[in-house]
Amino acid sequence: MHIWAVANQKGGVGKTTTVVTLGGLLADAGNRVLLLDLDPHGSLTSYFRFDPDSVEKSAYDLFLGNGKVDESLPNQLTIETGHPNLSLIPSSTALATLERHAQAQGGMGLVISKALAILWDDYDYVLIDSPPVLGVLMINALAACQRLVIPVQTEFLAIKGLERMTRTLTMINRARKKPIPYLIVPTLFDRRTQASNKSLRIIKDMFEEVVWHSAIPVDTKLRDASTAGIAPSALDVNARGVKAYGNLLATLKEPVS
Ligand SMILES: Nc1ncnc2c1ncn2[C@@H]1O[C@H](COP(=O)(O)OP(=O)(O)OP(=O)(O)O)[C@@H](O)[C@H]1O
Ligand SMILES: [Mg+2]
Repeated sequence: MHIWAVANQKGGVGKTTTVVTLGGLLADAGNRVLLLDLDPHGSLTSYFRFDPDSVEKSAYDLFLGNGKVDESLPNQLTIETGHPNLSLIPSSTALATLERHAQAQGGMGLVISKALAILWDDYDYVLIDSPPVLGVLMINALAACQRLVIPVQTEFLAIKGLERMTRTLTMINRARKKPIPYLIVPTLFDRRTQASNKSLRIIKDMFEEVVWHSAIPVDTKLRDASTAGIAPSALDVNARGVKAYGNLLATLKEPVS
């Protein structure tokens, strides 16, 4: 099982879009894929037309055992998205109550790691969507993942958020045996605007070897797919945005050095 988290403390940078597009492409290639929505806003859950205000079972249930996860629980939480090979553990707005705890005490930071250990043989890839807040949910996502994708909007203000995120990562890495390999992915890139080009250059200069060599372009097809509630590759596999995510996938599948 490969576990990738997608996180950034800044909102609206393309985290959920990255999870759903990469997840769809991995599923299209025949992988058994699980998407895990850890954002209390539940955008990923709503994307597939489930309601985070009224789901019966969700990722929240995993946090009710005081840090312990019952062997039979994770499987009870997965639902089908309608896209072949693509399953989802939905979010619930109740997850927001956990966010008050900035620190993950008493094993609460390892709940997702434990849940995914139970599902280890059931999926080839797990993609975790996380909230733009440093709290117990993001800590769980970072503790569980083997790779981290940090989408960053090619816009000036986003760069400040990126510095915050890399500081968080330094802090988390102190508690891990091995640091989390991460890749910064420029998103919402509009090559026609100076601001976008300039920001991309700054990101590449500042973060050099940890920045993906390309960028995800602005593509309205990605927005259309979310309106239709289907993974972007199911709407148009040849869309620019989908192809860019396909290239990103190729980079992410390379072994981590
Ligand atoms: N490459 C893109 N081209 C066009 N629209 C995009 C692209 N990426 C994301 N969007 C749109 O931008 C908006 C924000 O994207 P998304 O929800 O993926 O960001 P997010 O980081 O998950 O936000 P949040 O922090 O609120 O969870 C959405 O409406 C999405 O459809
Ligand atoms: Mg999101």
